[in-house]
Amino acid sequence: MNDHGSMRQTERLAADAAGLAQAATILRRGGLVAFPTETVYGLGADATDAEAVARIYAAKERPSFNPLISHLDSFESAKREGAFDETATRLAEAFWPGPLTLVVPVAPTCTISDLARAGLDSVGLRVPAHPLAHALLEATGRPVAAPSANRSGRVSPTDADHVLGDLDGRIEAVLDGGMARVGVESTIVSCLGGTPRLLRPGGVPREAIEALIGEKLEVGVEAGANPLAPGMLASHYAPRAQVRLNATHIQPGEAALLFGGESVPGADTAHAALNLSKNGDLVEAAAHLFSYLRQLDASGAATIAVGPIPETGLGEAINDRLKRAAAER
Ligand code: TXA
Ligand code: MG
Repeated sequence: MNDHGSMRQTERLAADAAGLAQAATILRRGGLVAFPTETVYGLGADATDAEAVARIYAAKERPSFNPLISHLDSFESAKREGAFDETATRLAEAFWPGPLTLVVPVAPTCTISDLARAGLDSVGLRVPAHPLAHALLEATGRPVAAPSANRSGRVSPTDADHVLGDLDGRIEAVLDGGMARVGVESTIVSCLGGTPRLLRPGGVPREAIEALIGEKLEVGVEAGANPLAPGMLASHYAPRAQVRLNATHIQPGEAALLFGGESVPGADTAHAALNLSKNGDLVEAAAHLFSYLRQLDASGAATIAVGPIPETGLGEAINDRLKRAAAER
């Protein structure tokens, strides 16, 4: 596959044992498989493999990174990835499997890549009810990151033909399970301490959630979230250090985030330096983005100088993320 996610052909896999086995094998090898859930078709990748997750963005031509929902076969599996407080536990027990996503703090045993979490210390988890999704997740044995299986800016697909209409030739396979039942995405509720928050309305009605927990949900992103504290914002990871973009030389004391084979003056004597991809591979660069930002931030440098990154393919999403990091002061 190249940067734009093109490949020769997308296989339509039947909803039988052989189709499921093949879909699981493709996922475990880092490939992309669209699969039915009870809400919409998801575009799945092994959530533990950052390069596989990067390919989701390439296939969708998505111009920015946001945290993705990771799908699991059971609440037991979800507890390895996230920390469930009492409220989150009650919600999971009442509504899973089903069209509810819970955003919870990452567990120490979390295996989900930081690209799937967009660098956050929290993680979006869902146990879908669709029998094929369940069987696929069980066979794969890993969390599967899956946004809706459409190209960016188009409507969410509810059958395999919709998926192929958007993504044929860009993903390895689609598991054909007929029509999705709900047709709208899952309800997203964050449980990060305090009153749970409705981040997105969806398949589980808000009233059903409020009736269960006995209080009203907060709505939308956190008011007054402190952008200087990494991981505090509901939807963005912001480094503590200043971020300087399109650096053509590195100043003394700066940390350097580089891309490609060309040498950047001053990089040899930088406070710390990491190269997102020496080969200039944007999929590899996307996979490294959040962990390298964190590492350079942890080096203690006041500024992270970022070398130029091409604005093609996944470069657009990488640059979008870096621009936000540079602006969030
Ligand atoms: O119905 C659905 O939920 C579909 C099917 C395929 O399961 N999936 C879906 O996934 O809509 P996705 O990845 O497109 O949902 C992403 C949204 C983000 O825009 C964000 O609102 C929320 O999930 N989210 C995920 N993790 C989060 C986190 N750690 N903090 C805040 N929001 C998070
Ligand atoms: Mg979508």
